Amino acid sequence: MMDLGEIRDTRPEDWPQIYSLIERVFLRSDEARFMRNLLDNDDVVLSLAHQRRPGEHGEITGFIAYSRVLLETDDGLYDALAMAPLVVDPSCQGKGIGLELLSISQEILKAMGEKLSFVLGEPDYYAKLGYSPEVASKFKGPYSGPYLLGLRYSDDIPSSGTLIYPEAFAQVKG
Ligand SMILES: CC(C)(COP(=O)(O)OP(=O)(O)OC[C@H]1O[C@@H](n2cnc3c(N)ncnc32)[C@H](O)[C@@H]1OP(=O)(O)O)[C@@H](O)C(=O)NCCC(=O)NCCS
Repeated sequence: MMDLGEIRDTRPEDWPQIYSLIERVFLRSDEARFMRNLLDNDDVVLSLAHQRRPGEHGEITGFIAYSRVLLETDDGLYDALAMAPLVVDPSCQGKGIGLELLSISQEILKAMGEKLSFVLGEPDYYAKLGYSPEVASKFKGPYSGPYLLGLRYSDDIPSSGTLIYPEAFAQVKG
């Protein structure tokens, strides 16, 4: 199997490298600022880094984050997740790192007892890891439409409701 490097929890000292990776990928600073806002507001539930070479000084070449979304239902508020951003350094794209970050994070989130995750993205790509527009279409929210995808980690989730996103989402231009 191809050596994909190491995927691990982010560490406090990683953030400057992660912000610079995000800026390199999106060619603007909005998404890095978005990530910083999520972190500053304590909205991040899970963040993982991919390092090309394992160890203390390996360069970070991939990153994924999940933040807390609330699902407002007739019975009260339920926890859900929004996945964003997912980035892989342009020099390492197309080697399976993005899918590996998604797959490992899903296993961790399931083990943490999380039940439902959403992403706004390319349906064909995220379908590889089980995300679908059908799951998302049951819920109302600011990003409803064909690119809002949902993934259930459990059958024990509400059948309808309204998604409330962290404030940082409203500050990113599309
Ligand atoms: C999207 C991104 C994270 C994918 O990471 P990656 O490591 O390059 O992707 P992988 O190598 O894991 O992808 C493997 C498969 O997905 C496919 N794929 C990659 N990007 C795709 C896209 N935008 N749409 C559909 N399929 C895509 C590849 O063709 C490949 O398919 P195959 O296995 O059938 O050949 C990366 O390209 C990236 O950082 N893009 C810019 C930032 C971005 O758009 N992030 C997502 C929204 S926050």
